[in-house]
Amino acid sequence: MAFDDLRSFVSELERRGELLRVRSLVSRDLEITEITDRMSKLPNGGRALLFENVEGSRFPVLTNAFGSERRTALALGSTDLEAVGDRVSDLLRTEMPRTLGQKAALAPMAMSLLKCFPKTSRGRAPCQEVVLKGDDVDLGILPALKSWPQDGGRFITLPAVFTKDADGKRNVGMYRMQVFDKTTTGMHWHVHKDGALNFSDDRRSGRRTEVAVAIGCDPAVMYAATAPMPQGLDELILAGFLRGSPVRLAKCVTVDMEVPAASEFVLEGYVDHDETRLEGPFGDHTGYYSLADMYPVLHVTAVTHRRDAIYPATVVGRPPMEDCYLAKATERVFLPPLRMLVPEIDDIWMPWEGVFHNIVAVAISKRYPGQARKVMSSMWGNNQMSLAKMVLVVDDASLLKDGRRLLRHVLDTVDFASDVTLTDGVLDVLDHSAPAPLRGSKLGVDATARAAGEDARRRPRFKLTMSGQGVLDALRSSGDGFLGCRVAMPDAKAPLILVSVDKGGAPSQRFKEAIRASGLLDQGVFVMYDGVDLSDGRLLLWKMFNNVDPERDITIDDGVIIDATRKGLADGHAREWPDEIVMSPDIVSRVEARRGELGL
Ligand SMILES: Cc1cc2nc3c(=O)[nH]c(=O)nc-3n(C[C@H](O)[C@H](O)[C@H](O)COP(=O)(O)O)c2cc1C
Repeated sequence: MAFDDLRSFVSELERRGELLRVRSLVSRDLEITEITDRMSKLPNGGRALLFENVEGSRFPVLTNAFGSERRTALALGSTDLEAVGDRVSDLLRTEMPRTLGQKAALAPMAMSLLKCFPKTSRGRAPCQEVVLKGDDVDLGILPALKSWPQDGGRFITLPAVFTKDADGKRNVGMYRMQVFDKTTTGMHWHVHKDGALNFSDDRRSGRRTEVAVAIGCDPAVMYAATAPMPQGLDELILAGFLRGSPVRLAKCVTVDMEVPAASEFVLEGYVDHDETRLEGPFGDHTGYYSLADMYPVLHVTAVTHRRDAIYPATVVGRPPMEDCYLAKATERVFLPPLRMLVPEIDDIWMPWEGVFHNIVAVAISKRYPGQARKVMSSMWGNNQMSLAKMVLVVDDASLLKDGRRLLRHVLDTVDFASDVTLTDGVLDVLDHSAPAPLRGSKLGVDATARAAGEDARRRPRFKLTMSGQGVLDALRSSGDGFLGCRVAMPDAKAPLILVSVDKGGAPSQRFKEAIRASGLLDQGVFVMYDGVDLSDGRLLLWKMFNNVDPERDITIDDGVIIDATRKGLADGHAREWPDEIVMSPDIVSRVEARRGELGL
């Protein structure tokens, strides 16, 4: 099923019981976030939310529309995301036709491919029912959200940002935009992304950077804006393929760009080459704030919209939230092309706790020595996969369906002396663990069976004899600040000894030395956290993937210590360490008190 626009997707969600209309008055400052966050954390992502009565806005706000596998699959014209991946796979498997029959059999495929290409419509586009130019431009009409307490302002969070390269080829990317005032916003394209590339090419050649931003298009276009398409390939072709019909475009009114005609809102404008402004902080999808930094500025020359436009927004934060399902779609859609480049890959999995750039688990069919390392290198050399901090390689794809089994497999299999590869390279802008931004250490873990020609693993060196309390008592007698200890997977070959500490400004090194001095390194793999609930496995994994810089924070010698604490100057970490996102207690209690009225 293809949707012509966002509103037909909303209608379909409602028909399927997948939408909750919130009729009570709500504030777009924090309150919509708290409501959406609660919804996102319900089993299977709860329902999409349409806030019909938003303080200070005449437009309704839609959140959590992509917030489940079912809804994202529906958005991409399918019943489940595996099926979306299968369609891409079928397309790529197409073979050279040899007989007349084979040629004839290809005709429907060729016809459907022709439908992928966008078409420009004549006549007045729905997205231009209202046109505001010059002094009439006022971004204040958009119900942009302030999502989290420390956010630097209100942000447009689901924009499809259109730019062109020097040859006029279109790029569509999703980059959040902080609303600065009536006519300007931030343009938060990370340096690794194609929007930033087009911008820097323009700056070098002195070409004006025109930008159009579609907010609320048919959901296949909204997804395509987030998809890591190879440079130079138009995301609208992907959207056309997914929806099975061309995206209809309209010419913008003040810039030489085209946008989906059925968009709810369109912003048109330009980005000056020499202007930057402080953008952020912003409560990000890592579950931490991304820190304020200098970014280019979009000057808006026109706002056009549908008369009764729906404003879509997403709220990101500690997973699971809506963006997890967009990422899951990408995992499925881009697996077939990835397998063309790295054919031994059977499957991949980006667990939510890894917030996409922190860990990718890869299952391969291994045939020869060193192959797991080859796959790691391929991943780190491949488009946005290159941003992955950790690559874990296994050779049983069923492990990727069950995080607990996967972890157990790693603990039972990995020889920390020979299966762990440290390297360095590019890191996601949102990585806060590395001492320097944008680059740093990376970890590869080979948990595949040994192939002929590979050295045998050393036998396990761990032997757990103590309880968590016993370990805690011993740690306390060798140092201060140990708050708690729990042993996870005690019968694994490498049990996990989870320790919470109160660093109180002291360096992690002090605690590592105390662990070492306790003589307990042979009990298992130690993982250190700042005082946390050690029974919450998802919280622990999320913190570990976010907070560990592999080179600095994983010590492998007489034993293994992983330091997942917050780092500061005492640890030699000169960069600011971001806070975890937490909602203000007054907003939490306000929403709690209104639960019944809000329909939660
Ligand atoms: C909700 C959401 C918000 C995003 N915000 C940003 C952002 O602010 N900056 C950025 O560079 N990427 C952001 N991304 C990721 C990009 O959209 C994604 O990497 C995309 O493939 C970039 O496209 P490009 O390579 O064509 O530039 C976001 C993704 C989602 C789902």
